[in-house]
Amino acid sequence: MWTDAPLTRESLALPEPCVDYPALESFLDHEFDGVPGIAREFPLLVGVRNPGRSLVQRERGAIVSHAAWKRVELVAGQRRLSAAGIGLVTTAAGERGRGLATRVISSCLEAALREGMDLAVLFGKPSALYTRLGFVAAGRERVVQVPLESGTPTAGIRCGGPEDAARLLPLLESHLLRVSRSAEDFAALLEIPETRLYQLECGGRPEAYCVVGKGRDLGGVVHEWAGAPAAVAALLRGVAALEARPLPVIGPEALAAPVAGESRVGPLAMFRVLRPESLGSDDPVELFGDPETPARLPIYIWGLDSI
Ligand SMILES: CC(C)(COP(=O)(O)OP(=O)(O)OC[C@H]1O[C@@H](n2cnc3c(N)ncnc32)[C@H](O)[C@@H]1OP(=O)(O)O)[C@@H](O)C(=O)NCCC(=O)NCCS
Repeated sequence: MWTDAPLTRESLALPEPCVDYPALESFLDHEFDGVPGIAREFPLLVGVRNPGRSLVQRERGAIVSHAAWKRVELVAGQRRLSAAGIGLVTTAAGERGRGLATRVISSCLEAALREGMDLAVLFGKPSALYTRLGFVAAGRERVVQVPLESGTPTAGIRCGGPEDAARLLPLLESHLLRVSRSAEDFAALLEIPETRLYQLECGGRPEAYCVVGKGRDLGGVVHEWAGAPAAVAALLRGVAALEARPLPVIGPEALAAPVAGESRVGPLAMFRVLRPESLGSDDPVELFGDPETPARLPIYIWGLDSI
């Protein structure tokens, strides 16, 4: 196990896969942030779509800590990278600070290495927990603000839902930087509560789409957009008009900004290289850059794919 975390009980069993999803959901409802329903916001991470990769630490039979991982294929032009996306790291409130999350994340990393993943990625805030486990903030994500302008046309823009996933997928797939996603997975992601899909249509065909919000995350932010550049720009201006507010839009810094305007670059996520022999470095910043460092190997994870 990759940890020297202080454990108060030497006899603790190793974290194990959890198949009791109702018990897991109840644990997450109580312990993640106290607001029920978090598992529904990660439909591809926990539950029947990703069996065996929710790892829990139990004590006296009860779940006291959890982390899940899923396979993520990063598309970087012609190159494919296999990543373990780790999420829903949660320890029971009364058991924190004992190294339990360190243990369950370490078990996820070991499993990911066994399954041949090149790297691990998570979207938590940088903290001692993650840096002690070798994670480094890296990657380059741009935020640009779409202004609210009076008189902006909104004709042709309509809301959508999971039923639109299959016809929108080719637009996403035209991006050089993305995560591989099936139409079924796309539909499941569009079912996440508080996720708004807008599309710009011409003659019944989608020219561009964008997604605002994702559960309790990314509220009010456009975190995925695709289509012909002029159509994306028209859609984003129209969505700002429909929502009657300036619209923050995030996207990969390595691609052209979807609209002109003031922008800033921040890190994409926290990464740990698992197989440096495959990637040519064990330093995520050298590979994927950071706000100050250009990327040698640009990658991007759109908001719906953020574990
Ligand atoms: C974040 C969370 C999962 C941490 O769980 P935990 O079991 O307390 O984690 P650990 O005990 O392994 O580590 C906690 C701290 O102890 C420190 N620690 C653990 N082992 C250590 C050691 N051997 N030496 C020094 N410090 C150590 C960690 O670095 C970490 O420090 P930090 O609080 O500054 O980040 C828990 O607080 C939680 O469930 N929060 C709510 C849900 C959430 O926000 N999850 C993260 C987003 S996905």
